[in-house]
Amino acid sequence: MGRLDGKVALITGAARGQGAAAARKFVAEGAKVMVADIIDDEGKRLADEIGALYQHLDVSQEADWAAAVERVLAEYGQLTVLVNNAGILHFSELGKTTLADYERVIGVNQIGAFLGMRSVVEPMSEAGVGSIINLSSVEGLAGMPYLIAYTASKFAIRGMTKVAALELGGKGIRVNSVHPGMIETAMVSTAAGGAHVDLSPAGKKVALGRVGQPEEIANLVVFLASDESSYSTGAEFVADGGATA
Ligand code: NAI
Repeated sequence: MGRLDGKVALITGAARGQGAAAARKFVAEGAKVMVADIIDDEGKRLADEIGALYQHLDVSQEADWAAAVERVLAEYGQLTVLVNNAGILHFSELGKTTLADYERVIGVNQIGAFLGMRSVVEPMSEAGVGSIINLSSVEGLAGMPYLIAYTASKFAIRGMTKVAALELGGKGIRVNSVHPGMIETAMVSTAAGGAHVDLSPAGKKVALGRVGQPEEIANLVVFLASDESSYSTGAEFVADGGATA
């Protein structure tokens, strides 16, 4: 028996990285999964490989959310898990961050999570059960230089998670935030390369002495999606190798 038997999950930003790792584990644990992303070729390839649906979903676009939720309901009959995982990073000094840079990050990370949560209230309320898992970061717990917009968006996700948990608890819907430390994905390698930022000193402060792997976060996401976490809501789950210890 799978730990997610009977669950129907929509995972954003699931074509690669942590979202892809979660999608793989969700299917292996018995969930029906919609892989949603804007990099369609990678997303379709993964979905075909694991037996999931693929949907083009730009999380910053309201109309995309409506189409995605409608399709999940049409194909699977219900929607009981949402993983708001899609995110982008922009490294720049405060004094050099343009309004367009700031708005782009907020649009995807913060507004995307808001639209996602709002979109599933009705189907999850009808099902009388739901788990929303919002990917924040350790940057949602403490400040990080050169990440003004990203940090703002991740603090916002942490706050929105608590509001949603308080509002939706009575409907059987749980909402939690996940706070990874540095995880080895394209996000980190691309950002570090592009901004010429040396990320290695951060690794030295990690108690476990290494970066994390996408699967280590996916394990936590599976737990939060499953009934094993039935008494957890409005909570912050940190998986950072001890970086914030
Ligand atoms: P990644 O860059 O490998 O994956 C992010 C995914 O989001 C990509 O597939 C990308 O195409 C998708 N995406 C970007 N913009 C989108 C949009 N507008 N609509 C839909 N999809 C979009 O990065 P990673 O590491 O897998 O990131 C997953 C989440 O984890 C993000 O929210 C990130 O902020 C968070 N996180 C990552 C950490 C890390 O060190 N890698 C640390 C803490 C949090």
